[in-house]
Amino acid sequence: MNTLAQRLNVDHLLLQAPMAGSQGSALALAVCRAGGIGALPAAMLTPEALVQELTALSQGTTRPWNVNFFCHTPPAPDAAREARWREALSPFYAEAGLDIAAVPAGAGRVPFSHAVADLVEPFRPPIVSFHFGLPAPDLLARIKGWGSVVLSSATTVEEAIWLEAQGVDAVIAQGSEAGGHRGMFMTDDLTTQVGTFALLPQIAATVQVPVIAAGGIANAAGVRAALALGAAGVQVGSAYLCSDEALTSPIHRAALQSDAARHTALTTLFSGRPARGIVNRVMRELGPLNPAAPAFPTATAAIAPLRAHWEKQGRGDFSPLWSGQNASGCRSAPAAEITVALLQGFV
Ligand SMILES: Cc1cc2nc3c(=O)[nH]c(=O)nc-3n(C[C@H](O)[C@H](O)[C@H](O)COP(=O)(O)O)c2cc1C
Repeated sequence: MNTLAQRLNVDHLLLQAPMAGSQGSALALAVCRAGGIGALPAAMLTPEALVQELTALSQGTTRPWNVNFFCHTPPAPDAAREARWREALSPFYAEAGLDIAAVPAGAGRVPFSHAVADLVEPFRPPIVSFHFGLPAPDLLARIKGWGSVVLSSATTVEEAIWLEAQGVDAVIAQGSEAGGHRGMFMTDDLTTQVGTFALLPQIAATVQVPVIAAGGIANAAGVRAALALGAAGVQVGSAYLCSDEALTSPIHRAALQSDAARHTALTTLFSGRPARGIVNRVMRELGPLNPAAPAFPTATAAIAPLRAHWEKQGRGDFSPLWSGQNASGCRSAPAAEITVALLQGFV
């Protein structure tokens, strides 16, 4: 048993990845009850929903769980870029018979703050994890002060070194296979992003804190491979997306379980930050990394009405169909079954 597992009082560090927009406390609780570490993604929750979900978790299990936040710096408004984005989307609005002028520019997801920490502190979460770096040092000290284990994703060796120096308890090595947003925060150069097999051993050889592998792990053999490459544990996302307890839409589930899931790409179209999803019409027609997409998280507002329009017709042409490169683990099954199968990789 390693020291982080000891501190958390678990046999194995099997973490269900927090997946904003695709799951809540129901999945996290099911994973915890089956012997894994469930996660609550908080990036898209209102304060009321956050408190409700934290209450459900803290009352629903005595096992450790993880609450996850984004910690990006919201961008300054950029009217010229927003105008370019709307121009790029305008033919699609015309086709759908929608009025782009009626769409308000949206702020979107808000980063972690002291106001959010005020809501979280009474729950003393066993684990608090971050994507896109870490909050400011005073906020980080506050979380560590109330006793939570702190984790954050690194997508390069440099990010892992920085996270360790800031005092994280473990680093999540997020290989480029991973579904959803890249956690990258020291660079926006996508050529720095490498796969789990290359990233994990290099980070494990560099930092002293435990390393949790993420990206492309979908079964017990993947877990064993990660442990062999120096991981103390794993974080699995995509393989839970079709579980009974996930909130993944029927359109997204169908795509994940089709041949289309073999073709994913990093795209900035849905939020402004690179994230991996199944290639769909808007990614093909605008190019997945179209420079017109404005900074995170402002790209979402103008594409959201197109998503809603086409989803009503049963189509995911404008939806973020987040998926890792290995969707082979996406089964329609209780999360407990998926968890128990992954735990076999530790024994
Ligand atoms: C649908 C989806 C949403 C995600 N949302 C988040 C999130 O809110 N916070 C976070 O830290 N990571 C998020 N991730 C990334 C995961 O933490 C993790 O890195 C990834 O799922 C691992 O790769 P895999 O999907 O191949 O298992 C998301 C991933 C997916 C697939």
